[in-house]
Amino acid sequence: MKLVIVESPFAGDIQGNIYYARMAMRDSLLRGEAPIASHLLYTQDGVLNDSIPEERQQGIDAGLAWGKVADQTAVYIDKGISRGMEYGIQRAISEGRNIEFRSLPEFESDLTIEQCNKKYLERCWIKSKFHFGAKWYKTNREGVKAIESKYIKSPLNYVGGKFKVLQQIIPLFSNDINTFIDLFGGGFNVGINVNANKIIYNDMILQVVELFKNLQTHDAEEVHKIILDNVTKYGLSRSDINSYEFYNCNSNDGLGSYNKDKYFKLRDDYNLNPTWDKFYTIVAFSFSNQIRFNSKGGFNMPVGKRDYNSSLQEKLKVFVDEIHNKDINFHCGDFRDLKVGKLSDNDLVYCDPPYLNSTATYNENGGWAIEQENILRDLLIRIHNNHGRFALSNNLTTNTTLQKWAEDNNFVIHDLTNTYSNCNYQKKDKESKDVEVLITNY
Ligand SMILES: C[S@@+](CC[C@H](N)C(=O)[O-])C[C@H]1O[C@@H](n2cnc3c(N)ncnc32)[C@H](O)[C@@H]1O
Repeated sequence: MKLVIVESPFAGDIQGNIYYARMAMRDSLLRGEAPIASHLLYTQDGVLNDSIPEERQQGIDAGLAWGKVADQTAVYIDKGISRGMEYGIQRAISEGRNIEFRSLPEFESDLTIEQCNKKYLERCWIKSKFHFGAKWYKTNREGVKAIESKYIKSPLNYVGGKFKVLQQIIPLFSNDINTFIDLFGGGFNVGINVNANKIIYNDMILQVVELFKNLQTHDAEEVHKIILDNVTKYGLSRSDINSYEFYNCNSNDGLGSYNKDKYFKLRDDYNLNPTWDKFYTIVAFSFSNQIRFNSKGGFNMPVGKRDYNSSLQEKLKVFVDEIHNKDINFHCGDFRDLKVGKLSDNDLVYCDPPYLNSTATYNENGGWAIEQENILRDLLIRIHNNHGRFALSNNLTTNTTLQKWAEDNNFVIHDLTNTYSNCNYQKKDKESKDVEVLITNY
């Protein structure tokens, strides 16, 4: 679900502006987003007083602090662009956050979306940075260059996916990687965001590997068209072009009641005759976009609340484009088959295995137990003794012997839980429920 900062006016016609802000929130929720409008939240009685400049600024800054995690800023323009909104737009620009100007049909506006795009986004161009589609570009005297201002998120909602900690993990990888091996690739949130001459993705789930291989041989437009053809063929919902009401549904309960039978038909067809495109179509409509197979290999996730909506379409497009930009080899296999002897000094093996004592939907069958954990630890020691580099994601709370193992071998434990900055792990924080770490041998 896209995390969205809502910008709309507050000062002046406060009652009218509160009404408008609520409509803007509703509009965002109906798009399947998770909006935050700090000017509605913090200005309530007993919270902050908007007429005191310091408190007003504090409210604006606290709201914008959510920008660290937000995917987008949505600016609702029908009542004009206030100074507070202007400030929010500037923050979004400087933090590289996508901006979308929106208008509500119930209001008559003096401004148009085109005018706002022109005014603000073309101004960014002059200021050397602007966005077009999902990408940001930088311009200087030499010309225009695409820049990575944000990490790319996998279009699979992978349990245990590392998207949320990429800001902490990626800087801990070196800049001189020749081959990056994402040994437990999963949703590929990590490998897709790494700069390396070559990337090897490995996972034991054949269906996911086959999907990624096909995303490599089809361009984003083709993929999109194939998925939409499936959606149409099975009569599934299209919230990208129709409202929830069109399907007799609402945003709270979602589209499951409309899609259920059609989804089961698609799922049955997929289980009889599995193809990559049916697989992705089911995932787009499955519960929380998650993946789960029964012991016979049949996909068995129930129907979800959402569909192949605009946000998922955008995520898929950006992901497919990046697969085409990089030199990636998708491989299906067990981590035990890694040939340690073939690694060179400037390769990096990244391991994000299932966590001990936790079950994810994709490893319910067989799971991950102490035997696999010990084999992995032996493999990491062999990489180390072979002068290779590794980085291991894990959790010290669920994996109780890992800290001792890392310390005995003089590996570095980077604590990702208790600080946003990167620091070495010193002492297990007894207060903290989860101690998420990256262990490296460099
Ligand atoms: C935590 S997930 C990886 C998530 C990934 N880093 C991301 O951010 O999207 C762990 C993955 O390990 C895979 N896996 C489990 N056992 C494996 C094995 N023996 N060999 C290779 N992959 C395995 C699972 O299929 C799962 O996709």
